[in-house]
Amino acid sequence: MSEKILNIAVIGGSGLAQKHAEGIIKDPRANLYAICDIDPERASALAEKVGCTKVLTDYRELVNDDELDAVVLVTPDQVHAEHTCAFLNAGKHVLCEKPMALSMEECEQMLKAEKEGTGRLMVGQIGRCTPAFALTKRLIAKGRIGELMFVESEYAHNYGKARGYKDWRLDPRRHIVIGGGCHAVDFLRWIAGDPEEVYAYSTHKVLTDWPTDDTTIAIMKFPGNIAGKVFVSSGCKRGYTMRSCFYGTKGTIICDNTSDHIQIFEDNEDEGRKYTKAANIPVEINNHNAFEEIRQFVEAIVTGEPMPISALEGAHDVAVCAAIVEAAAKGHPIKVKYPKV
Ligand SMILES: NC(=O)c1ccc[n+]([C@@H]2O[C@H](COP(=O)([O-])OP(=O)(O)OC[C@H]3O[C@@H](n4cnc5c(N)ncnc54)[C@H](O)[C@@H]3O)[C@@H](O)[C@H]2O)c1
Repeated sequence: MSEKILNIAVIGGSGLAQKHAEGIIKDPRANLYAICDIDPERASALAEKVGCTKVLTDYRELVNDDELDAVVLVTPDQVHAEHTCAFLNAGKHVLCEKPMALSMEECEQMLKAEKEGTGRLMVGQIGRCTPAFALTKRLIAKGRIGELMFVESEYAHNYGKARGYKDWRLDPRRHIVIGGGCHAVDFLRWIAGDPEEVYAYSTHKVLTDWPTDDTTIAIMKFPGNIAGKVFVSSGCKRGYTMRSCFYGTKGTIICDNTSDHIQIFEDNEDEGRKYTKAANIPVEINNHNAFEEIRQFVEAIVTGEPMPISALEGAHDVAVCAAIVEAAAKGHPIKVKYPKV
């Protein structure tokens, strides 16, 4: 008997939505069922580019469509919770772009909708599909650099004109720590676990016409006595990358999401002389691996296995980011309030 092909719709009509649509087209277990964008021109333009004939402007027309199995939400952060809950309540599976939502209240609504229904939720923390980061995770898990003592990551961008459709990125609730910093926080949490407490300083010197601070440094303590640091900026005058360092008792890994290699430094000994050996390990450059993200989403639906980047993982990222914003505003350390599931 032939396997069922999953009908998946993409909500949103941006260049990023196109990558997701192409990921669906490439996966033999999936069919690009529809493109939906509130703006008819953007919906039609993307549908034409990717050869999709079902085009909509109101996501609610899809919610109760019996033919639809799943959706990929590539919409502004402010509507993630509303759209996710609507589709989950109708039993559809959802891949929601990061950040999962802008507040813990919204994350909890989404967790509840998933818990009470049959649809499952994956959060698009794309760093977990980035080849350099996945390799780093595997090497650390194998013990190549020993026990971790300090981990750091960053999300450093020049947002200048990247305001989003109708300036949605300028909403003060869309603090850059939550909207972009969730990538760096997620990478550290993926490797080192959930920090208990955070402290942060932030400044506002570059994007002065934006409502929130543009640059933040946060420090935190991870389980197992691992110190951590996150740097987030939307006003950096440099190329985008997520430079990250993992310092262990036996070695160090330096990696990012825009280079063709990661660097590893390891203890070594030759003829009785101890020294640190440096090596580059080649990786594919792919800082938005939508194909892999869609492949993992489809795989989890087809096999019934847990979503690889679960709703709880996405909610924990938002919890840490919200604590960072609060710590910087209040000037004292903040305990992270993880959702009670
Ligand atoms: N994973 C990553 O690295 C990454 C990178 C960029 C953006 N994102 C995330 O992807 C999402 C979309 O970002 P973007 O850069 O594509 O934004 P964008 O502003 O370029 O596009 C958003 C699209 O959503 C449409 N839209 C708005 N409200 C809608 C609604 N109610 N129903 C249907 N369509 C609606 C708009 O018309 C627009 O076409 C955001 O959550 C953002 O944080 C993730």
